[in-house]
Amino acid sequence: MSKNKWWKREVAYQIYPKSFYDSNNDGIGDINGITRKLDYLSDLGVTLLWICPIFKSPMDDNGYDISDYYDIAPEFGTLEDLDNLINEAKKKNIKIILDLVINHTSDEHEWFQEALKNPESKYRDYYIFKRGKKDVPPTNWRGHFGGSVWEKVEGEKDKDGNEMYYLHLFSKKQPDLNWENPEVRKELYKIVNFWLTKGIAGFRVDAINSIKKDQRYLDLPVDGEDGLAFNIKYTLNQPGIEEFLDELRNETFKKYDCVTVAETPLLEYERYDKFIGENGFFSMIFDFNYAEIDMKDDGAYFNRNDFTVKELREKIFDSQLIIQKYGWGAPFLENHDSPRSIDKYFGDNINDEDAVTISKLLGNLFFFLQGTPFIYQGQELGINNFKRTSIEDFDDIASKDQYYRALKEGFSSEEALYYVNRRSRDNTRTPFHWDSSENGGFSRAIPWIKMNESYKKVNVEMEIEDKNSVLSHYKKMIELRQKSKYSDCLIYGEFVPLDLKNDEIIAYSRKDNNYELICINNFSSKSQEVDLKDKFSVKEILIANIEDIQIKENRINLKPYQSFVAKVEKL
Ligand code: NOJ
Repeated sequence: MSKNKWWKREVAYQIYPKSFYDSNNDGIGDINGITRKLDYLSDLGVTLLWICPIFKSPMDDNGYDISDYYDIAPEFGTLEDLDNLINEAKKKNIKIILDLVINHTSDEHEWFQEALKNPESKYRDYYIFKRGKKDVPPTNWRGHFGGSVWEKVEGEKDKDGNEMYYLHLFSKKQPDLNWENPEVRKELYKIVNFWLTKGIAGFRVDAINSIKKDQRYLDLPVDGEDGLAFNIKYTLNQPGIEEFLDELRNETFKKYDCVTVAETPLLEYERYDKFIGENGFFSMIFDFNYAEIDMKDDGAYFNRNDFTVKELREKIFDSQLIIQKYGWGAPFLENHDSPRSIDKYFGDNINDEDAVTISKLLGNLFFFLQGTPFIYQGQELGINNFKRTSIEDFDDIASKDQYYRALKEGFSSEEALYYVNRRSRDNTRTPFHWDSSENGGFSRAIPWIKMNESYKKVNVEMEIEDKNSVLSHYKKMIELRQKSKYSDCLIYGEFVPLDLKNDEIIAYSRKDNNYELICINNFSSKSQEVDLKDKFSVKEILIANIEDIQIKENRINLKPYQSFVAKVEKL
């Protein structure tokens, strides 16, 4: 694998600014809070921060609804605070990437306000306005956060009584931009270039595979009790999107030595070459094919996909082999839209001791895959899901919608709450656990969202001193990838799937001209025996979640949830 790009050597860390650290004690995390905690991040060893949106926003979707791309949300700070963060981070060799949200704006953005106020203005065509039939919206599509994707514009009925609507794939406060309009695209490129010249290292690119819509605006077969149909068939990964992405890259990213990581759910593997190949649109993309194995394509929390370890293994292998063939990966376990990984992959009945072992296993499994690993805040502490007892305790717009939709589909309120608790985006959005003092040391004020109560036993202060903590394990993993004689092998080495003839185990190797390293993970709560006899001999254990590894004549007796990386020699 070629060593030509700087971003292949990075270890990325995702920050949800609202919940990281509150420097001014108003209950909301902020930019200065991130700056204050740079020592922690640098000590952990991460080198690239992805910060979720910090731009001016009414916060209907926590910043993914931007009302001014050139300014910062006052609750997060100022442009000076951001400059300061970029400079201070640079001193510690940490680069910053921002979230680029250009599929939609906030309805409070001045473009949309103009479009509403004056139907004749050029801003009408910045968005997607269409006539319904009487008061039936133009199509029957359901949005990602429930309900119709169409919102009625009051007072714009035509003479036949047909209402006017605008399109929003997400909340009604997130109107979709009209990418078919070249002037819109130009304005967006201006924003991208503005930020790239400001000294950021690049972007995580939000919902970018939704920018092209099927221009026929046809109905779909109804698929729910709400009488609607999930929109994605006509709005996601549409043919022709390549033209927009090609132009976006050429007008912006290509002119800088920047990194771009795109969010592209359900993108078919045949198209990965165009997206991340030699002259791809992006440096890397997040592959949700394995990361959302617990979900069906309809995105309904109540329609969970129960999966086996074997299925997970196959998905990870498929993902790695395809990505390796064409480009570079961005492996991850968690993000601000997912539940915590312990719960996602192992359920919600895990005791505290096993949770520590499992967090390290999941760490080993994902961190040494091919690509630039992305760690989500709190994952390095082993934080798990936070169970809420009432729907009132949720903040997230999607979680609330999923609850009411589940009720409509006939589930009881207990069942609906169970599903939301398992999948809610609020699981990863609770404030960070700095210590065991009130509010986990996140803020002296009451946090904007309830703390996960586990902060009293899972927090930085306790874990930093404990060499067996999840945090210490993450530090070791990062050091092994970044600063050991195996770095080149772990970063650029080939990914090779291993078949150890056991469906409770996920194992792979990384190899280059100098070394071959294997990563073996027992997903089972029972011991498992594997035989490496005719394949490898284990020379040295490099990292493990349970130190004592029983190997006899290359037969390994793995303890429950045991996981390790070892240097091997081929037999
Ligand atoms: C994906 C983001 O990750 C999510 O948090 C957001 O709600 C949607 N895109 C809409 O911007």
